[in-house]
Amino acid sequence: MIRAFDAVSLPLLRWLDPEDAHRLAVQGLKLLPPTRPRADVEKLAVRAFGLNFPNPIGMAAGFDKNGEVPDALLRLGFGFVEVGTVTLRPQAGNPRPRIFRLERDEGVINRFGFNSDGADTVLRRLAARAHLGGIVGVNIGANKDSADRNDDYVRLIEAFAPVASYFTVNVSSPNTPGLRNLQQASALDDLLARVIDARERVRKNAGDSPVLLKVAPDLGLAELDDVVHIARSRRADGMIVANTTVGRPSTLREQNRARETGGLSGRPLFRLSTRMVAETYVRAEGAFPLVGVGGIDSGGGALAKIRAGASLIQLYSSLVYKGLGLVEDIKRDLSSTLLRTGRDSLSEIVGADAATITAEDWPVS
Ligand code: FNR
Repeated sequence: MIRAFDAVSLPLLRWLDPEDAHRLAVQGLKLLPPTRPRADVEKLAVRAFGLNFPNPIGMAAGFDKNGEVPDALLRLGFGFVEVGTVTLRPQAGNPRPRIFRLERDEGVINRFGFNSDGADTVLRRLAARAHLGGIVGVNIGANKDSADRNDDYVRLIEAFAPVASYFTVNVSSPNTPGLRNLQQASALDDLLARVIDARERVRKNAGDSPVLLKVAPDLGLAELDDVVHIARSRRADGMIVANTTVGRPSTLREQNRARETGGLSGRPLFRLSTRMVAETYVRAEGAFPLVGVGGIDSGGGALAKIRAGASLIQLYSSLVYKGLGLVEDIKRDLSSTLLRTGRDSLSEIVGADAATITAEDWPVS
């Protein structure tokens, strides 16, 4: 069924303007019949941040920004879905065009700039589906014109705590001017202190919501030292590594398209983000689990992220090129790897390659 959908939709969607194609894909998912998802093999289950994930593959933030189709995505086989980035007040984002395909590189550049229906609308949608269960995280960000950005994050935590399986504090989008400065040590320390405090305050009524920090792949290693240190000392529950890059590898074939402003994702991000997962893993020293994201487009790519240090993975851009059948393909590959190597769970290989990867030369592509 998914393969048939991919066979028809992929050529059509790739022929359309990428933002129209995305809109059509979301609308198409709304029409998906409400069947039960196929049960995952037990060995793929992951326990992290106090949550039980049926499998480690998540839909990354940015696909379902407004919480329109989390259940369709769960039915397609994702182990979890991250809605957002959601901003407190609705905002339109940057003018179109704001998403570009780098076909020959299997990459994407976007500069959406947090187009969001805003907290009220997204909250209403998530509250209406809350009884269905499944792991649905909420990725939160500040409005572009916010006078007090930290306050936006606090109010978003307060609003979404009853419906969010977890929160992702997004301080790494390149498309909101100044947002990534929140990764600097003293700003990050203030932000995380306030966010964790808000989470604690609402805990009694709204239940527990793990807080994850999502970082840019463009941090220098000294900056990453600070970020991980602060995340640990403020007792964040985990980190997501990484967002899109403002870098443009010299190996890109679509050099013209590469000149568009925005964050690059997909295959050209794979090596850098995998390196950053390993660098984060060795600094976290097991204090919290990591979600690895960036350029995963196969079972091998998923495994490499896990061996670099990710307990869970997410993907987005590869779905544009490979279709939704990719989720089942990756799960099948991960299960057969476990079977072949006689392991009971993926947790046995998390971080197995981190030391080797961090000793390699810095990746250029
Ligand atoms: C994104 N990403 C993203 N991340 C985030 O935290 N908030 C967001 O709103 C968005 N929006 C967004 C839009 C589009 C069109 C893309 C392609 C990506 C980043 C995404 O979640 C992920 O971190 C990167 O894309 C790297 O993963 P892939 O796409 O290489 O698998």
